[in-house]
Amino acid sequence: MSNYFDEELIEEIKERNHIIDVVSRYVPLKKSGSTYKGLCPFHHEKTPSFVVSEEKQFYHCFGCGQSGDAIHFVMQMEHIDFIDAIHMLGDWAGISIEEYTTSDREKEEIHIKNQLYEINREAALFYYKNLFQTRNDGLKYFYERGLNSQTIKKFGLGYAKDQWELLNRYLLTKGYDQNLIYKAGLVIKRKTKDGYYDRFRNRVIFPIINVAGKVIGFGGRIIDKGEPKYLNSPETPVFNKGNHLYGLNLSKDVIRKKKQIVVVEGYMDVIGLYEGGIYNVVASLGTALTKSQGYLLKRYADEVIIAYDGDTAGKAATLRGLDVLKDVGCSIKVIELADGVDPDEYVRKKGKDAFLEKIKKALPLVDYKIKLAHNENDLTTTEGKIKFVQSITYILKTLKSPIELDAYIQKIALAAHISPEAIKSEIYGNNKGNYQKDSASYKNKYRSKNDRYTNKYDIKPIKPIQKMGYIEAEKSLLKLMMDDKRLFDKIKAIMTCEDFIDEIHIKIAKVMDDLYETNEFISIEMILEKLKQEEIPILHDIYKKVVPIENVNKAFIDYMDVIKKHKLITRKIEIENELKRIEKMEDKTPNEIVRIRELCIDYEKLLKELKKQ
Ligand code: CTP
Ligand code: MN
Repeated sequence: MSNYFDEELIEEIKERNHIIDVVSRYVPLKKSGSTYKGLCPFHHEKTPSFVVSEEKQFYHCFGCGQSGDAIHFVMQMEHIDFIDAIHMLGDWAGISIEEYTTSDREKEEIHIKNQLYEINREAALFYYKNLFQTRNDGLKYFYERGLNSQTIKKFGLGYAKDQWELLNRYLLTKGYDQNLIYKAGLVIKRKTKDGYYDRFRNRVIFPIINVAGKVIGFGGRIIDKGEPKYLNSPETPVFNKGNHLYGLNLSKDVIRKKKQIVVVEGYMDVIGLYEGGIYNVVASLGTALTKSQGYLLKRYADEVIIAYDGDTAGKAATLRGLDVLKDVGCSIKVIELADGVDPDEYVRKKGKDAFLEKIKKALPLVDYKIKLAHNENDLTTTEGKIKFVQSITYILKTLKSPIELDAYIQKIALAAHISPEAIKSEIYGNNKGNYQKDSASYKNKYRSKNDRYTNKYDIKPIKPIQKMGYIEAEKSLLKLMMDDKRLFDKIKAIMTCEDFIDEIHIKIAKVMDDLYETNEFISIEMILEKLKQEEIPILHDIYKKVVPIENVNKAFIDYMDVIKKHKLITRKIEIENELKRIEKMEDKTPNEIVRIRELCIDYEKLLKELKKQ
C-alpha cells in the first residue's frame, strides 16, 4: 500500500509528526533517561512498560510486544489503514497529501473516498436539520422513545422525510456528482425510467461514524410499523459493515480507560445505555460479529461484555460470533436479559445501577454455554442427561487449562448429578489409553507455573533448561546479565561477547558491556536505545525470559552447557563434512592426508567432550 505514496511524503510525515507528540495525544508520557515511558495503550498494565524512543522515533511495549513508528502507532490506536493514518498525520502536521501522492490510481481513490465522506457528512447534516425544521414524525418518534435533544445532537440523529427525491436534489444543488451520490449509497437507481430516488424515506436516521470521525454510512428505522424495520447503507468504498462498530467514535476513550466494552445489538441499545449513563458501549449492528470486529474490540478492551436481547443471545449464529471473539483472544462474558428485553429497555426501566449489576454478574462464555445446554435438556430423563453431557463435552474440549477443565467438570457433575468420571470419559472417550494420551498432551502443552500448586494431573516439573535450544539458553543468559551486574561479571569471566552464537545476541551482549562500563544498573530502555528497530523483538524475548531465581547458579551452568553443546555439535558436523569432502578426492596430496589425520584427532576429542555433556 505504501507504494502509492511518495517516499518523500512518508518521510515528511514522520519528520513533522514527532513520535513523542503523536503518542502523547493518547498516552501520558514521562521522561525517563533518554527515553519516554508510559502505560501501554495496547494492553492493561499497572506499571509502565511502554517505551518511546525519541532518538529512534519508535515505540515498544515490553509488556505486550507492540512496536512501531508514529504511523504505525496511529494505525493501531485508531484501527485505520495505512492510507488513513497518513491522512490523519498529514492533517495534524498541515501537510497536503494530495499534492504529494504520485500514483494516479491512489490519487483517484483518495479523492473518491474524500468526496464520499463529504457527501455523507452533508447528508447527515441534512437529515439532522430536517429533525428540527418543521414539526415532523421523526422528532416526535425520538421524543416518544425518551431521547433528549442532547443525545440526538451527540449521535447526530436525523430524519428522512416521506418524499422521494429530497436528499438527491439537495445534494445535486450543492454541486455533488450524481454518480458519487449513488456511490455513497444514498440513492437507488430507478428501474423503469432514468434517474434516482432517495434510499431513506420516512425513517429516523442513525449516521454511522468511524473512529476518525467520518460519516461512513447510515441506518434508517421505519417510524410506523413496516418492513424492513431497519434499512442500512449498502457496502461502499468507505463503508464495510463488518469492519465497524456503531458508537465506537464516542465511546473509544472511555473503553480504553475501562478496558471493558459492552457490545449490544442495535443503534437504540447504544443510545439507550448512553442516556442511562453507561458509555463503554458499541453495537455490532444486528449481525454476528466478524473477526475484524473482534480485532477492533481486542485493541480497545480486555474484556468484552455481550448484552444482546434475551432471545438472540442464545442463537447459534450469535454464539459462533462469540467464538470468533474468543479466537482473537478476548475474554468474553455474557449478560442475561429476559427474552424480548433489550438493553435499551432494561436500562430505561431498571436504571444504571441495575445494569451495572448485570455486568458484574455476567457469565463467562463457557458458563453461559453450559447454562444454555442445561436449559435445553431435561435432566430428569436419561436421554436429556446424555444429550446434555454430549453438548457440554463439545464446549469443554475447547478449554485450554486442565485446572479450568477440572473445575468445570466438578461443577457440572454437581449440578447435573452425573459422576465426574462419566463426564471425563465422555470428553476423552471411553478408551483409557486415549484418556492418558490426551491428558499427557494437555500436560505438556499447557503446563504453566500456575499449575504447580496441584498435582491432580500428575504434572512433574520437568527440567526446562535441559530441553532448551541454544537460542533460548543464550537469551536466558543475557537476561541474567541484564538483571545483575555481578552475574554479568561472572559470565564475562568465562566467556566473551563473541562467544554467543546468535549475531544479535552478540550485539546485545556488547551493548550491555558498554553500558556496564559506566553504570551499576542498566535498564531495558538503555539497551533499546542502542538497537535497530528490527532487533527489538529479540530484546523483548530476552526481557520476557523467566530465569528460576531459586537456583541462578545452576541455571547459569546449564545455559552455558547448552551453548557449549551446540557449538560442539556444529563443529562435529563441520568436521564430518570436511572429512567426507577430502575422502572423496581421487589423488590425495600428502597435505590432505595430514589434514585427515588432524581432523580425526579433533573428531575423537570432540566426541569425548560431547559424551561428558
Ligand atoms: N437490524 C437491521 N435490519 C433489520 C433489523 C435489525 O440492520 N431489519 C440491525 C439494526 O442495526 C438494529 C439491530 O439489528 O439496530 C438490532 O435489531 P433490533 O433489536 O430489532 O433493533 P433495535 O436497535 O433494538 O431497535 P428498536 O428498539 O427500535 O426496535
Ligand atoms: Mn430495541
